[in-house]
Amino acid sequence: MIITLDGPAGAGKSSAARSLARRLGWCYIDTGAMYRAVALVALDRSIPLEDAARLAELAESIRILFVEGRVLVDDRDVSTEIRTERITLATRPVADAPAVREAMKRVQRRMAEGTDVVTEGRDQGSVVFPFAELKVFLTASAEERARRRFREEVARGHSASFEKVLDSQSRRDEADEKRPVGTLKPADDAILLETDGLSPEQVVDALLALVEARRRPAEPPDRRP
Ligand code: DC
Repeated sequence: MIITLDGPAGAGKSSAARSLARRLGWCYIDTGAMYRAVALVALDRSIPLEDAARLAELAESIRILFVEGRVLVDDRDVSTEIRTERITLATRPVADAPAVREAMKRVQRRMAEGTDVVTEGRDQGSVVFPFAELKVFLTASAEERARRRFREEVARGHSASFEKVLDSQSRRDEADEKRPVGTLKPADDAILLETDGLSPEQVVDALLALVEARRRPAEPPDRRP
């Protein structure tokens, strides 16, 4: 079974997808981390970020694994490095290149072949797995998402201002919604899950309930007179 979890930055997709996969004992695919990994390796190998053909080749040749919450690229643990600002910035042109997205689609479909997965990103339900059994679009208000990101930054010991976090998030949202490829939009048959006011545990419980409902065979119609 394939479950896709898409949504904007800060909606809590990653932690929800990871916990859901763990609770179900299924594989987990973090597609944002995959784009980030390609950007990191491109910088390491001095591949220009405008060279879409070479980036696409790279996307299909490196081996990305998700192991116990870590991201491994060709056996190297890149979990921390791919989250730096340098890589966040370099990831945008990588994720905007249609050739890279096509390559990623092939890689992601191969990863999901013959196994049960929870896959998380922007285009998983709409483009990569239009045939997924369950598609969820996780949302939260802009203020709620910025509040969560702000708390994370403070918890990491970074000095942050709420206004700055909200402002940079609004710019990311706009870019995600306006880009010509990989546009952030729910698949027509996605279930919208609004997470304002829900704890991470409540989000996972809501997702588990949706999975259970999908797995349960439909009740036979009541034919009694
Ligand atoms: O979710 P994230 O911040 O780790 O994503 C990193 C970047 O990759 C961000 O620019 C959005 C982009 N992305 C994408 O275009 N398509 C996906 N399926 C996942 C992420």
